[in-house]
Amino acid sequence: MNTKLIAGNWKMNGGLEANQRLLQEMLAGLAVSPPAAQVALCAPAPYLAQLQTLLSGSPMAWGAQDISAHEQGAYTGEVSGAMLRDFACRYAIVGHSERRQYHQETDEVVAAKAQRALNCGITPIVCVGETLAEREAGETVAVVKRQLAAVIHVVAHCTSEMVVAYEPVWAIGTGRTATPEQAQEVHAVLRAQLQAATGHGKHNRILYGGSMNAANAADLLAQPDIDGGLIGGASLKAADFLKIIASCPAAA
Ligand code: PGA
Repeated sequence: MNTKLIAGNWKMNGGLEANQRLLQEMLAGLAVSPPAAQVALCAPAPYLAQLQTLLSGSPMAWGAQDISAHEQGAYTGEVSGAMLRDFACRYAIVGHSERRQYHQETDEVVAAKAQRALNCGITPIVCVGETLAEREAGETVAVVKRQLAAVIHVVAHCTSEMVVAYEPVWAIGTGRTATPEQAQEVHAVLRAQLQAATGHGKHNRILYGGSMNAANAADLLAQPDIDGGLIGGASLKAADFLKIIASCPAAA
């Protein structure tokens, strides 16, 4: 079993004062019960300096929610991998469904972003997932395999360094979670795809995301191919996030 990774995705939420309170509460909780899992928070870019200041030396790593596919130059509004490195980001989420949906990110753009992260020594958390219409049309496996294949094709031998997150779009922020069986089924498909393409799929961490919360985390995290969670709403509440972390069994 891989060591679990619990990664928070704050999305476009937060503020300097609120972040400080939230992080202090989380750190206090982790000091009382040291985590069996690895823990990270992915914050809006303006707060990365704050996370670096408050989390350095703590059990929580931090990361970004996106990364530019470009190295540098005339790309107004974008944040490069080198800039994220300046703030010691360990992770960058790429291909979140909200980026695919609202910013028209294609599989190719997502793959380029994953590669850029790897080039900068940042672990990409590559999100894949089907919409409700795709699930109802029986296309779930085809969709997630297509999304992951585009990334594997581009990052090739660096695949071992990436984290994959299965996030069914219909479960994100809706309170409608995939059942542990539904999630496990897709995770097993993704693991087999990684294994076939790279030979080291057993070691890639595959997270589940989509309305994971304090009540349902233990059952999801008990599935053999679920190596952790990408947590949106529940990562904005210290008590809930701490409970999810505490649901992680220690690695064998
Ligand atoms: P949620 O978000 O936990 O609020 O459903 C998960 C995500 O979008 O990463």
